[in-house]
Amino acid sequence: MLIAFEGTDGSGLSTQSKLLAEWLESKGYTVYLTKEPTTGEIGKLIRRVLRKEIEVSDATLALLFAADRVEHTKIIVERIEKGEIVISDRYRLSSYAYQSLTLDLEWVVMINRYSITPDLTFVIETPPEVSLERIKQRNNGIELFEELEKLEKISRNFRKVAEGNVVFIDGNRSIEEVFGEVRDKILI
Ligand code: ADP
Ligand code: TYD
Repeated sequence: MLIAFEGTDGSGLSTQSKLLAEWLESKGYTVYLTKEPTTGEIGKLIRRVLRKEIEVSDATLALLFAADRVEHTKIIVERIEKGEIVISDRYRLSSYAYQSLTLDLEWVVMINRYSITPDLTFVIETPPEVSLERIKQRNNGIELFEELEKLEKISRNFRKVAEGNVVFIDGNRSIEEVFGEVRDKILI
């Protein structure tokens, strides 16, 4: 089974992914917690673009995310076949919502054809002015998409591109309240 967490930067995706992984492990499940961009070579290159160390065109970045995901999907499928629960901190809905800011959505969907549809997707919705404040406090520098106007559009895009079994969660609450709702949606 694949569960994905999606949403705009600083919405609490990493926090909630970890909490869900720990909770499922405490119930005796074997969990594989993973994220995109990955820690692989393509993921590392993407991180350099996000930190604005290197500049590539939007289409190239979209292809890099899709390539990173092809490799990631192989690992995810292996884990699912072993009976593990895979939790991914971002997956292909991020490409649909972020890359369609400037690129044709149909093309973005097409280059992601060799990915799989998650069994369950949580889209955590936190107002960008709130999440940007969290990002500033985290103090890791401001990355490529971390601007108010862009994040507002991306946030609306998530509503438009949502696919499959999707649950929208209000992220503008305490970590515990948000996680309470995530946990309630897991029917195991
Ligand atoms: P993301 O992975 O979506 O970028 P993180 O989980 O890394 O977000 O959270 C970004 C920052 O905000 C972290 O410092 C985290 O501790 C904090 N944070 C996460 N969720 C909440 C919340 N519900 N309320 C307040 N702060 C939060
Ligand atoms: P991430 O490290 O999760 O950022 P944060 O912790 O701030 O949420 O994600 C990296 C950035 O890459 C984030 O701005 C979202 C973006 N992104 C895309 O544009 N397309 C994608 O397909 C993915 C997976 C991420």
